[in-house]
Amino acid sequence: MEKELVGIRQRLGILGGGQLGRMLIQEAISYDVHIDVMERTVEAPSSIIAHSYTVGEITDYDDVLKFGRDKDVITVEIENVNIEALKELEMNGVKVFPQPHILEIIKDKGLQKQFYIDHNIPTSSFELTSNSTSIEHYKSKIPFVHKLRTGGYDGNGVQLIRTSNDLGNVFESDSILEDMIPFTKELSVIVARNEAGETAVYQTVECEFNDANMVAFLFSPAEIDIDTENRATELAVSVINAFEIVGLLAVELFLLPNGELLVNEVAPRPHNSGHHTIECNITSQFEQHLRSILNLPLGETEMIRKGAMINLLGEAGYDGPAKYEGMPEALSYPGVHVHLYGKASTRGNRKMGHITVTNSNLTEAKNTAQKVLETVRVIA
Ligand SMILES: Nc1ncnc2c1ncn2[C@@H]1O[C@H](COP(=O)(O)OP(=O)(O)OP(=O)(O)O)[C@@H](O)[C@H]1O
Ligand SMILES: [Mg+2]
Repeated sequence: MEKELVGIRQRLGILGGGQLGRMLIQEAISYDVHIDVMERTVEAPSSIIAHSYTVGEITDYDDVLKFGRDKDVITVEIENVNIEALKELEMNGVKVFPQPHILEIIKDKGLQKQFYIDHNIPTSSFELTSNSTSIEHYKSKIPFVHKLRTGGYDGNGVQLIRTSNDLGNVFESDSILEDMIPFTKELSVIVARNEAGETAVYQTVECEFNDANMVAFLFSPAEIDIDTENRATELAVSVINAFEIVGLLAVELFLLPNGELLVNEVAPRPHNSGHHTIECNITSQFEQHLRSILNLPLGETEMIRKGAMINLLGEAGYDGPAKYEGMPEALSYPGVHVHLYGKASTRGNRKMGHITVTNSNLTEAKNTAQKVLETVRVIA
């Protein structure tokens, strides 16, 4: 019989000490799981709330192997981790969720896109590029989107190439070149799957991005018709089943003018587009991730309140110890929930926190979120 993982202080190791790990710990405390975090720096969002904290490189074979040896379950809050060490831990009986062979595919956007093609999952067409790809070839592909195969995050590692002027600093390392998609909306669906193969899916959300390609504004539910909603959630479930992932999966989608849906990319972990679930849904994405990796029944995903979420991004031109201007005023608006990630210093476009505004009326939630966005400034 499976070992019971709840209530007996099972040891959960998280690779990465950022805000996603921090919010996962906030939920894991309620399950009395013992959490050890590994991160490169002494100070990180998780460092003050993890039960124990290990300074180490999550991309280093020896560091990850050593970190994982005494754990019951290992999970990640970022894909760029040492896969070989995780595979070895898995062979030695440590549960690693998401499974290392799936992380290996997802962390490389080239392999990830090929996976969609191989599994008949709709996605934009693509090709691989490298430092030997000629400028003439790039010119013939304009407009296109260029993405580093590994290591990109929060829009870093993504170039929208619209004219030949944008080709000046085109990535020269291994990348993918995708057709530029004239989407009408960007949608995201969070879905979870546990070891028993049960899945649970959240209602689709809609994202708006800023100039740096970061999620600036997200609302739940997405303003789409019921047919699109059903197709989006069905697609997300089919993607998680194709991967056979254990854990949470955020499926980013493009909605085309003709109503078609394409998968942009996935993240095998809690995701920025699921932060609203903390206040808006019966089970938050963080609790759901825990339930799935601990082989527990999945929680109800039903929405209890509509919501709009904004990221609190460091204002450009400010570098140093963070100050949150306008917070008391923002908190005076109805339905405002603040999440600061405890990062000591800010810099331009750094994710410093998020605010979710809940309301029974989506338009009111959005209007308040817009006011909050105009009220709060993260400066140094
Ligand atoms: N093929 C495409 N056509 C048009 N726009 C695209 C395309 N691919 C990406 N984008 C735009 O760039 C954004 C970032 O791309 P993508 O999600 O692949 O990168 P990322 O850096 O992994 O993002 P994040 O980590 O923020 O989710 C997308 O949300 C979308 O706005
Ligand atoms: Mg993305």
